[in-house]
Amino acid sequence: MKPFHDKTLKILDEWMSTFNWEPGHMRQVARLAVRIFDELTDLHGLSDEDRFLLEGAALVHDVGFGMDPFEKGLAKALSNPAASHHKHSRDLILGHDFPGLDNRQKTIIALLARYHRKAPPKRKHKLFGKLGKSDRERVKKLAALLRIADGLDRSHTRVVEDLHCRLEEKHVAFVLKAYRNPGSEMYGARKKSALFEDIFQRKLVLEIRDTPLFPHTGSVPARQRGKSTVRRKKCTK
Ligand SMILES: [Fe+2]
Repeated sequence: MKPFHDKTLKILDEWMSTFNWEPGHMRQVARLAVRIFDELTDLHGLSDEDRFLLEGAALVHDVGFGMDPFEKGLAKALSNPAASHHKHSRDLILGHDFPGLDNRQKTIIALLARYHRKAPPKRKHKLFGKLGKSDRERVKKLAALLRIADGLDRSHTRVVEDLHCRLEEKHVAFVLKAYRNPGSEMYGARKKSALFEDIFQRKLVLEIRDTPLFPHTGSVPARQRGKSTVRRKKCTK
C-alpha cells in the first residue's frame, strides 16, 4: 500500500460518509474485501494497485442508496431505489472528482460498484466494453471478490470479525470467525458466489471457526441455495 493510496482511500471514505447511508457496512465490506484479496493472492494474481482499487470500490459501493431519486429525476428509482442502487453508485462515482484517482482508476472503481450485484460484467455493457482486455479481467476478478465481501455483511451488522481462506484444488474454503451465528452472512455469500465460482473455477465452501462465543453445536443456517457448501470446522488454534 502506497502512502498516496491511503490518502485517496480517506478521500473516498469521507465522500461516502456524506451520503449518510450505512458507512459502517461499507467499511466492513472494505475490510473483508482486502482480507479476501490478501488470502487469495495465489488464486487471483493481482497487484497492490488492484488491492487499492478493490478497497476503494468497497468503500463506496452502496452510495447509490443515498441518492435522492426525485432530485435526479430517475423514474425507475422512484418505484424501487434499491433495485438499481448499484448503477446509481456507478454514476455518482463517475460524476465526482477524486484527488489521487486518474480516469482509468475511477472508471474501474465505478464499474466495481456497478458489478457488486446483479448482472456480471459483459462486453456489450458500454463502459466495461471500452476497457482493454487486462482491465476487463481485472474488473471481473475484483467484482467477484467484492460480491463475496458484500454478502458476508448481508445483515449490515459486522457479524464476521475475521476470516481466512484455504485454497484447494476444486474449492476455496472461507473460514469465518463471527461473534454470533453468521447465518445471514453465509446465505449472502452463497447468493453472490456465482461470479467467483465462474471466474476462479472453484466452488465456494463456507466454514465457521469454532470459538467460545460461537460453539459449533449451534444451528446451521436453514436457507441454502446453489451448490456451494457449508461446513463446520473446529478451530485447532
Ligand atoms: Fe453492500
